[in-house]
Amino acid sequence: MNQCLIFSGSASRKLSEKIAAYLGKTLGQIEISRFSDGEISVQIKENVRGKDVFVVQSTCPPVNENLMELLVMLDAFRRASPRRVTAVLPYYGYARQDRKDKPRVPITAKLVANLLVAAGADRLLTMDLHAPQIQGFFDIPVDHLFAAPVIVNYFRSRNFRRPVVVAPDVGSVKMARAFAKHLGASLAIVDKRRDAPDKVDVMHVIGEVDGAEAIIIDDLISTGGTMTEAAKILLANGAREVYGSCTHAVLSGQARKVLGASPLKEVIITDTIPQTDLPACMKILSVANLLGEAIKCIHLETSVSSLFL
Ligand code: R5P
Repeated sequence: MNQCLIFSGSASRKLSEKIAAYLGKTLGQIEISRFSDGEISVQIKENVRGKDVFVVQSTCPPVNENLMELLVMLDAFRRASPRRVTAVLPYYGYARQDRKDKPRVPITAKLVANLLVAAGADRLLTMDLHAPQIQGFFDIPVDHLFAAPVIVNYFRSRNFRRPVVVAPDVGSVKMARAFAKHLGASLAIVDKRRDAPDKVDVMHVIGEVDGAEAIIIDDLISTGGTMTEAAKILLANGAREVYGSCTHAVLSGQARKVLGASPLKEVIITDTIPQTDLPACMKILSVANLLGEAIKCIHLETSVSSLFL
């Protein structure tokens, strides 16, 4: 593994340190700062010629800053003659803009894909894309991991009497079905209607949740509205307790307050996005080992599919 180097952007320092530690390495030396006008300045402080370089940066809020920083880093690497550069985006921002769902709107998830490749990424390693089809926006290899093994393990250890995995909207059904299968749980769906962006109207529950421990599974939490409204309707339908879980805790606006005041017993998230000031109900599980193992597989050219559930 000594030809493999891991570098971190400012958004993913803690996670990158854990990944490097899992691989028995320390992070590569890179200086990232800002010029007085706010422009990003990057200098790689070690030789990367012929090396297999992994650049870890979640494009989480502040998304434009973090994305631009990643692009500038990739440009610095591609000009320093490594053998290969893999962009590691534990969280891929702009993924919700993945299609033209109304006239004259951009497909920004595709624009981000183009930018990453133009900046110098030879391959992409990412996790729980909001829409798995985003892989097809790239003509470079993409390894798409799932946090499910880590989250399923946690809920398995809780030994619930009658767990029901709940998809908080139709888009999450496939993900929820996989969780239900691995937890030996049944499946329910919350029929969610969204009248305006960032405003949720929950309608009704499809499936039996009476007396159950309901586990809501989503890829991300932004405002917390979806998770909170789903929890309320599940309790109203007789669920005994409601737990929430997502891979990417984007937590925009008042999300911390909203989740803290919600009836959710626990909200399980991962460390794809760094966190501060979480309400007591939120618990972080680390995906560092999973990402570390994937980096090892990519570097040693072995299959990553053993990392899926
Ligand atoms: C929707 O398609 C996603 O899977 C999430 O349910 C949604 O983006 C969460 O947003 P919020 O927390 O703002 O309701």
